[in-house]
Amino acid sequence: MTQTYKALVAKRLDGKLAVGFEQLSAAEIGEGDVEIAVEYSTLNYKDGLAMSDAIPIVQQDKLILGIDMAGTVVSSDNSRFSVGDKVVLNGYGASETHNGGYTQRLRTKGEYLVKLPAGISTRQAMAIGTAGYTAMLSVMRLERLGVVPESGVVLVTGASGGVGTVAISLLSALGYRVTASTGRMEEADFLKSLGASDVINRAELSEPGEMMQAPRWAAAVDSCGSHTLANVIAQLHYSGVVTACGLAQGLDLPSNMMPFALRNVSLLGVDSVHAPMPLREEAWRRLAKDLDMAKLEALLVNIPFDDVPAAAGKILQGQIRGRAVVEIGS
Ligand SMILES: NC(=O)c1ccc[n+]([C@@H]2O[C@H](COP(=O)([O-])OP(=O)(O)OC[C@H]3O[C@@H](n4cnc5c(N)ncnc54)[C@H](OP(=O)(O)O)[C@@H]3O)[C@@H](O)[C@H]2O)c1
Repeated sequence: MTQTYKALVAKRLDGKLAVGFEQLSAAEIGEGDVEIAVEYSTLNYKDGLAMSDAIPIVQQDKLILGIDMAGTVVSSDNSRFSVGDKVVLNGYGASETHNGGYTQRLRTKGEYLVKLPAGISTRQAMAIGTAGYTAMLSVMRLERLGVVPESGVVLVTGASGGVGTVAISLLSALGYRVTASTGRMEEADFLKSLGASDVINRAELSEPGEMMQAPRWAAAVDSCGSHTLANVIAQLHYSGVVTACGLAQGLDLPSNMMPFALRNVSLLGVDSVHAPMPLREEAWRRLAKDLDMAKLEALLVNIPFDDVPAAAGKILQGQIRGRAVVEIGS
């Protein structure tokens, strides 16, 4: 009997996106010089957006969904990879222009893959996922602008989400004093267990605010955009820095020039999808060194492969706490 592989596939029919499980043949699992037995994937906000088609993330008539995967190389024509290597894929157009990680078997280009550093299992890699790797990129961006623990308090918005929870864990492990902003005040103890010193209600930041406000934050990691980011910019200390990677509140940025011109503040964009390979490798090395894997375990929600379509709606409604790991299974 011909071997087939279970995959979650998106098809665009008459402009509408249909999402469902299919059994794919070896010829349908993608193109490239490396084949991977996928062990784990994850559910990110962007996966939810892709399945809802609220933003046209899927840009092909048919592809395998999932922006992340981690697994073991089963065949390779690429000199960087050998059979048995543990690898991770984050972004690089997966689930946008070519096949992604919601599949038992994936063939892809070696240039998209990072070899996992020793000390991170494929399950832990997906517990981190694109959200956690983006949190690491955000922290590295702050560091490169000279932010150190002595600079003062660092705010993390969208605190209970994937980027937020990993950012809190990383920053507190690195010695920063962290304030978490959340819409789920019932998660305050959880956020403190990750390392937040203080927790504020996101309602303090989510409404239109003054152009300049009392300085509160030396730096911030934002994944919300919209009024939240505008208020954070208005509340940065002199020479304060905020990274912006996401749009959980909205795509808009109703800010103004005053904090930039009068307080010397910096707004730093963070993109994980097309981050160059050396930066990715550095981020994964740093995650292996700086992330407390016991804390990571506390962030995990396990999602069976079959439940991914239903869970996608929940992540868009902010109903998933921490990091959602999908066990693909053979
Ligand atoms: N640029 C990149 O490469 C990149 C990479 C990864 C992620 N992202 C983006 O970053 C964002 C977060 O991703 P994620 O995976 O961490 O998502 P997530 O797990 O769904 O977390 C987002 C969090 O934002 C908060 N939130 C939700 N709705 C909100 C609203 N209306 N106003 C204010 N806060 C709200 C919630 O936290 P609380 O309940 O604690 O308030 C939620 O848990 C998404 O927009 C994602 O697309 C971008």
